[in-house]
Amino acid sequence: MPDAVFAEPRLAAIYDAFDGDRDDLIAYLNIADELGAESVLDLGCGTGCLAILLAENGRTVVGVEPAEASLEVAKSKASSKGITWAHGDATTLPTLGADLAVMTGNVAQVFLTDEGWAQTLQGIHTALRPHGFLVFETRRPERRAWEAWAADAREVILDVPGAGAVEQHFEITDVRLPLVSFRYTYRFLTDGTVITSDSTLRFRSRDEVESSLAAHGYQVLDVREAPDRPGREFIFIAQRTT
Ligand SMILES: C[S@@+](CC[C@H](N)C(=O)[O-])C[C@H]1O[C@@H](n2cnc3c(N)ncnc32)[C@H](O)[C@@H]1O
Repeated sequence: MPDAVFAEPRLAAIYDAFDGDRDDLIAYLNIADELGAESVLDLGCGTGCLAILLAENGRTVVGVEPAEASLEVAKSKASSKGITWAHGDATTLPTLGADLAVMTGNVAQVFLTDEGWAQTLQGIHTALRPHGFLVFETRRPERRAWEAWAADAREVILDVPGAGAVEQHFEITDVRLPLVSFRYTYRFLTDGTVITSDSTLRFRSRDEVESSLAAHGYQVLDVREAPDRPGREFIFIAQRTT
């Protein structure tokens, strides 16, 4: 079950507003260019920000997302024409023959069990063409991002078109490494509705990610810094070995 922040319609509708600028996505456009990818699978596409950028640059894109409410937001965007949106996850992917699969944002960290991560790597493998590429980011556990999140936590109020003023509160609720849990609480000031969303992310080490990729039929071509978050994340560039 995706977290309420993605799956609850009132929260999905305000997600982009609270997420802010998506400077992080430019790196993926550049990598897609570098790899010569014409067809892209965006797994966990959320509200479709990257899928839309990729399609605007002339690529064929399939955006797959398990939270229907987020997918509805993606579909509602005028610029989403020409993209195939699909409700599901890596276990429901058809053989797409895609040149490239991407997971941006926290997607690679939502798989809390080894089994869930393995199923995802297998599903993507099936959806890619032979020697197709897999690119995703994951936070470096040694940077202990959750400590900065807790230190920076403050209430944010935004006036969101269509929703009115909304207050967001963030708190870390549990740290049991490699799992970190947190909660967002949203108060819709127009009618007083309060909705909470609980999330847990898994922080995998570079070695752990590299061995899991090798075990599921990928070779790691490169591990890069996220240009907008140097030192804090890894971007893995992997390729199907067959
Ligand atoms: C932080 S959002 C990132 C969305 C998008 N990739 C982006 O960068 O804007 C994480 C996304 O992962 C999705 N997700 C959760 N569980 C998933 C799963 N099992 N398979 C694929 N995506 C999943 C969520 O529904 C959510 O849309």
